[in-house]
Amino acid sequence: MTEEQTKMTWLDTPDPQKFINNAAKFNDLMMMYRCAIREVQTKLEVLDDEFSVEYKRNPISFIKTRIKKPESIYRKLQKLGYDFTAENIQEYLNDVAGVRVVCAFIDDIYTVANLIAGQDDIKVLKVKDYIKNPKSNGYRSYHMIVEIPVFFSKGKTPMRVELQIRTNGMDFWATLEHQLRYKKGIEDLPGYDEISAELLRSAQAVIETDNEMQRIKDKIGMFHDI
Ligand code: GTP
Ligand code: MG
Repeated sequence: MTEEQTKMTWLDTPDPQKFINNAAKFNDLMMMYRCAIREVQTKLEVLDDEFSVEYKRNPISFIKTRIKKPESIYRKLQKLGYDFTAENIQEYLNDVAGVRVVCAFIDDIYTVANLIAGQDDIKVLKVKDYIKNPKSNGYRSYHMIVEIPVFFSKGKTPMRVELQIRTNGMDFWATLEHQLRYKKGIEDLPGYDEISAELLRSAQAVIETDNEMQRIKDKIGMFHDI
């Protein structure tokens, strides 16, 4: 490296002022997505709270939220063939704001999904039911892309949030499968087909347990409100 190159900093772009303005715009947008997450999270917590008073049980085990990392946002836009701009992020990406809801039982997933979809400030843009139609690798979850209005000083902005609703079992499997499949690059291993088959078998074991727990709940539910 020449002396000149080692002195380069990340502000040494052709137009540092433009870079600073864009970075500020990006930060502003991420703040808006964080607020959208808070709105959705509050709605879920309200429902869970109401349930615990009405039925003495919580349909939601826990909620996890995340904002997509700048690098992943950049890569996804690139893959779709769009420039990295605030406008394109809002127009073409549905999963910058993510909320994962982990429920106790399978029927809780549909209860939560229907109650959220039924709220009149929420617009459901897309649903993918990977529980009724699991992916070929065994992945199950109920996915919704919703749009929610967030009130800022400059006015109301509709923001998109990706909701993934699943049982503890589905979450347990998906989290481990994600770690195994994505982090280790196992696609290149010689025994990859066998590994995929094993992952599918483990998913089926979780499906059976989820269904069994649901049947037990239904049985008890015939005699008690649960
Ligand atoms: P992405 O481009 O992956 O964001 O998704 P998509 O537009 O095809 O949407 P989809 O609803 O299918 O998946 C969205 C998210 O669900 C992913 O980003 C993962 O978090 C999760 N997901 C989907 N498929 C799998 C899977 O096979 N395994 C695991 N562990 N997670 C998955
Ligand atoms: Mg995604």
